[in-house]
Amino acid sequence: MNVGKGLTRVDGRAKVTGSAKYSAEYALPRLTYAVMITSTRPNGTVAAIDKKAAMAAPGVLAVLTHENAPRVKNKVSPGDRVLPILQDNLVRYDRQPIAVVVADSFERATYAATLVRAKYASAGPARLRFADASETVTPARPGLQAKRGDADAAFAAAPVKVDNRYTIPTEHHNPMEPHATTAAWDGDMLTVYDATQGVSRVQGRLATTFDLPTQNVRVIAKYIGGGFGSKGTPWAHVILAAMAAKVVQRPVKLALTRPQMWSSVGYRPRLEQRVALAADASGALQAQIHEVTMQTAQFDDFIEGSAGQTTMLYTSPTLRTSHVAKRLDVATPTFMRAPGESSGTFALESAMDELAYALRIDPIALRLRNYAETDPETGNPWSSKSLRECYTLGAEKFGWADRPAQPRAMRKGNDLIGMGMATAVYPANRSAASASATMHADGSVLVQSGAVDIGTGSYTIFRQIAADAVGSAYERTVFDLGDSSMPHSPGSGGSTTAASVGSAVKAVGLVLRDELIALAVADAASPLHGRASSAIEAADGRLFVRDQATVGETFAAILARQSVPTLSAAADSAPGPEQKQYAMYSFGAQFAEVRVDADLGTVRLSRMLGVFGAGKILNAKTGRSQFLGGMVWGASMALHEATRYDERNGRIMNANLGEYLVPVNADIPAAIEALWIDEIDPHVNLVGAKGIGEIGITGAAAAIANAVFHATGKRVRDLPISPEKLIG
Ligand code: MOS
Repeated sequence: MNVGKGLTRVDGRAKVTGSAKYSAEYALPRLTYAVMITSTRPNGTVAAIDKKAAMAAPGVLAVLTHENAPRVKNKVSPGDRVLPILQDNLVRYDRQPIAVVVADSFERATYAATLVRAKYASAGPARLRFADASETVTPARPGLQAKRGDADAAFAAAPVKVDNRYTIPTEHHNPMEPHATTAAWDGDMLTVYDATQGVSRVQGRLATTFDLPTQNVRVIAKYIGGGFGSKGTPWAHVILAAMAAKVVQRPVKLALTRPQMWSSVGYRPRLEQRVALAADASGALQAQIHEVTMQTAQFDDFIEGSAGQTTMLYTSPTLRTSHVAKRLDVATPTFMRAPGESSGTFALESAMDELAYALRIDPIALRLRNYAETDPETGNPWSSKSLRECYTLGAEKFGWADRPAQPRAMRKGNDLIGMGMATAVYPANRSAASASATMHADGSVLVQSGAVDIGTGSYTIFRQIAADAVGSAYERTVFDLGDSSMPHSPGSGGSTTAASVGSAVKAVGLVLRDELIALAVADAASPLHGRASSAIEAADGRLFVRDQATVGETFAAILARQSVPTLSAAADSAPGPEQKQYAMYSFGAQFAEVRVDADLGTVRLSRMLGVFGAGKILNAKTGRSQFLGGMVWGASMALHEATRYDERNGRIMNANLGEYLVPVNADIPAAIEALWIDEIDPHVNLVGAKGIGEIGITGAAAAIANAVFHATGKRVRDLPISPEKLIG
């Protein structure tokens, strides 16, 4: 079996040698280069744009503005973002795209862009504070306003309680590969190479926008340098690249600069969360209240469901959650790694820690006291849940028993030392997906699905699943993806790809194997002739009789006797009634140890451990990397990341990786480890995998914040935990 093994990623060599082609690297014939110009006001209108000087600059082919851009349909499908694509002169935020320059070289386009002058009208001060919001949006989306019993009355009556506010600043994803789109028209056929998490979503949006049949648009994304949600939906530059290519009648490449990664490709919204928890003297929760306020754009409705996990993580007879969004002069936020769960677990798991101190109960004991044996919201059983095992193994490996109950009780020299923990949780999502498979005359196998490998290891795990299902040798099995002309796959978001596409790949592999078995048993020339199909097994590119392995023949030998020596199959796989019968989630326990300089307030992470129960881990090597990557991002959220706005003009002041802090190697301890429970889940999907792209970040920031409190006795509820919040 290949599934589960820690095989090295199949695209690793291509990536490190540079042969992996990213969307900005397709050197199409007659390629031209587009550069996006963005607004310098947070609101008002563009009264006029002077493009004369730019048009006269060498090599310039077009300057698109709201005045001359082709009119297109700006229709938005559910989950997609509203896009500023030069259809009107409204300015909704600072750095909104307002023009595009196209030239015959990138340098000429960049130079010409500096010559374009915009005049603005009716611009006022930026509305950046929640108090200045133009509107408060209360979403009707199910689950965002949950209620169980009378939580406020139960809270008021309970003997032990905590009630605090937690804030998280705006955070921008910043994948290593900035967004880029290369678009080419051939008549009314549009081909787009795009840095996207989902080729069919981009295909659909482009088809709608330019009023084309879906099949006229082909979207290709073979390699992606990270997405984390920012590449989950198409953005303005994707449409603008296709629009520009149509105008200049040549292929256009539009690659965002690093600073533009803060302009128009989404972010995690600034959030304020009130979490109020009440318990009886034994620590049994009596009430949970989780109120979320976040920023959103003037022109779009993205809302992060940060109180979602609060409805299902612990038992509590009463509960109330709410979400509201404040319309400000900001770009539209979007999904960012565990959107909802990462911010929500910071607040909830900090509050649980505070409640543990109030009760004088160990933080793990408090969580076990309120352990949910079934889904508290629906009463459904879990498809599988290993959270208890995660706490136990994590506590043992981390040495939790040595932790003094009192804060500020461990010191080495000038360092205050603390240990903290938190629960991790993320839903096990799944969508419909399809795959096709072909066996060639030599017995090699090609399986395809229009999925995207955003760096998580999809190429590798689907090859493992395909080889096991067909019974072909791993080396002679290829999995290909990243093209909208392949069978439909959901976008790589919501940790769905392993479960969704994995199920389709397994299904199609089994169909292909069964077709081959049928050929063999029906063929008088086969040593397997006349055998029962059910008695035949496939492995290493050979069919044989179970318990009698010498009786059999290779795939190639079977196909050689056919008039057409290839075999193909297709399969669709979709979630079914199990979705309503079981609650499906991954869980985990996060542990952190910090050393805080008693004078300077600097926090050094000294150890991190995550233990997860996430179904079948399909590849031990890429799986571990995903868990660790999530945990590192949790450290980033806890200690480093913050997008800073200038409240006067709405401008982001640190739109660069010099001033937008992310952890470097020196910030992450060598002692960071991810472990998992071998969890068998027969209900969740065909491959038993729950998807692990996001759970690693959940709970991680809270574990660190809780460790900082344990070290210092200071509770920081306002991320990031920077030194000035710990001194004085
Ligand atoms: Mo993710 S935030 O579902 O790419």
